[in-house]
Amino acid sequence: MSIFWFITTLLLLHFCTPGVGMDHGIVGGKMSIPHSRPYMVYIRDKQTYSACGGFLLREDFVMTAAHCNRKHLMVYLGVNDTNDLPEGIEVDAIPHPSFANKPGDDIMLLKLKTPAILNKTVNIIALPKTNREEISSNCMAMGWGRLKYNEKSPSSVLREVNLTLLDSENCARPHTICTKEDAGPAGGDSGGPLICGNEAVGIVSYYITNEFTSYLTMYTKISHYLPWINETMNPTL
Ligand SMILES: *[C@@H]1O[C@H](CO)[C@@H](O)[C@H](O)[C@H]1NC(C)=O
Ligand SMILES: *[C@@H]1O[C@H](CO)[C@@H](O)[C@H](O)[C@H]1NC(C)=O
Ligand SMILES: *[C@@H]1O[C@H](CO)[C@@H](O)[C@H](O)[C@H]1NC(C)=O
Ligand SMILES: *[C@@H]1O[C@H](CO)[C@@H](O)[C@H](O)[C@H]1NC(C)=O
Repeated sequence: MSIFWFITTLLLLHFCTPGVGMDHGIVGGKMSIPHSRPYMVYIRDKQTYSACGGFLLREDFVMTAAHCNRKHLMVYLGVNDTNDLPEGIEVDAIPHPSFANKPGDDIMLLKLKTPAILNKTVNIIALPKTNREEISSNCMAMGWGRLKYNEKSPSSVLREVNLTLLDSENCARPHTICTKEDAGPAGGDSGGPLICGNEAVGIVSYYITNEFTSYLTMYTKISHYLPWINETMNPTL
């Protein structure tokens, strides 16, 4: 079994993994209507250009995956085409303290040094309110990632795909939500949201392949981390 993050970096652009070259990515989906997902955030390291997705929770906080952490992250709000970025905003990265660069606890908050001004193209998305909330089966993932796993370049416009969740028994990993489809996130889509109903319930984390299953996509289950999220976003001095 192999485990892969969904991040793209300059080095990985010319990296080809034998045996996992099947067509997937935000490929089976379609281009999002420009600015129809105003909570989507494009995240890129100023120096390495390693790119991820994220989503705006409040004027001053973006959520993404902890494995997207880099030294010089910038966030870009209200993006339509990544070839035409607005001015980026610097952030302080707060990865989950238990994240250890392997699957699990793959969640990070980015505190914006300059808070966003919400408008028609920049807005927030809600999180689940409790850990017991039933998840709507009507789900969607989105990102600026590659259209195919073995393709070199990511998409410059946002793409989205409808997904159905697997039972937690089939997922068999703690605090994780899974999907298994012919389409879904690919390189560059790390950190983006899994949206079910009108809430962000998951964060694109990694996928696994083996010779039996084609692949399984894993998302960090956000509701498990609500206490940490609340403490981080509402610190008591
Ligand atoms: C979004 O970007 C695409 C690709 O560059 C472009 O064709 C389209 O006109 C843009 N739409 C808006 C509203 O900026
Ligand atoms: C909304 O805010 C974004 C980011 O600050 C900015 O690029 C965009 O021009 C604003 N749009 C409107 C309609 O004011
Ligand atoms: C997802 O499903 C909805 C409702 O069936 C549909 O309107 C929408 O076009 C679908 N989106 C994609 C990306 O296929
Ligand atoms: C959120 O955190 C604040 C301060 O850290 C605390 O007072 C409040 O009770 C917490 N709320 C929830 C729902 O946990």
